[in-house]
Amino acid sequence: MKLDSKLDTLNKLQSGRTSRAPVLPELSHVRANGGRLSALAEAISQNPEIEDAYIALLGALRMSPSLVSGNSILVTSTAPGEGKTTIASCLAITSSLAGQAALLVDGDLRRSSLGLAIGITDSVGLTEVLLGETAGADVIHRLRIGQSNSSVVNVMAGGRKSPMILPTMDWAKAKAAFKSVSQDFGIVLVDSPPVLAANDALLLASIVDAILLVVGAGSADLDEVRRAKQQLEQTGTPVIGAVLNRFEPKAHGRSNQPYRSYYRDSKR
Ligand SMILES: Nc1ncnc2c1ncn2[C@@H]1O[C@H](COP(=O)(O)OP(=O)(O)O)[C@@H](O)[C@H]1O
Ligand SMILES: [Mg+2]
Repeated sequence: MKLDSKLDTLNKLQSGRTSRAPVLPELSHVRANGGRLSALAEAISQNPEIEDAYIALLGALRMSPSLVSGNSILVTSTAPGEGKTTIASCLAITSSLAGQAALLVDGDLRRSSLGLAIGITDSVGLTEVLLGETAGADVIHRLRIGQSNSSVVNVMAGGRKSPMILPTMDWAKAKAAFKSVSQDFGIVLVDSPPVLAANDALLLASIVDAILLVVGAGSADLDEVRRAKQQLEQTGTPVIGAVLNRFEPKAHGRSNQPYRSYYRDSKR
């Protein structure tokens, strides 16, 4: 990797034509007890900083024309560890807490983690839905979250694994099957593997209405982000935005959301 192509500032992300990317802060100070979804939900409810950041991101996504008629978003990135699973999960949780029904789908089929995150071990999920082997309702788990467990986040695990399933899938049928399962929700977040690791994310792009590209502040390589964005755009599904994750204002430059405190102050 060329040193000067390392994507470590907001300016570079913006000059990389992923312009006006929303920013999600570094949150390692927040205790979220591993990757458990219920713990993430608790962390979001208790931290206005996080909740504000995700409400802003949901709002920005909603403005996209692709999500006026559609509702499903593939959350992807160039490399592992940039925050795809965290962001897909937090978007689903924030939406559910705000009263909009959300479905969180584990599309990282080789390294499924959402089943574990909600404490289930069954291996039926997205794969079986795409193959038409199950009606979606059978594989959607309802996880209660929020104050007095008053909200529900819906979760679909990855399903059985085999390297040959996705490449040999009938994608027209798979898309129709996925649509019929996902149409009942206000928003559908599909977690995915990294774009540059294998073809899986590009294949899954065909079943969703839009793509969100997660960029790890300080870890992503600008050339790789450009390459991944190009590959995703070739699928025909629009990349509706990029989000800079783990942003630390001191290390990476000023945030482009100076107005967030304005909203927070007005809540008081
Ligand atoms: N904004 C953030 N602040 C602090 N830790 C984060 C943030 N986003 C992700 N992480 C942590 O980074 C690790 C990788 O995140 P994950 O969402 O699993 O990435 P990916 O799905 O892209 O591989 C996890 O341990 C997660 O808790
Ligand atoms: Mg992941």
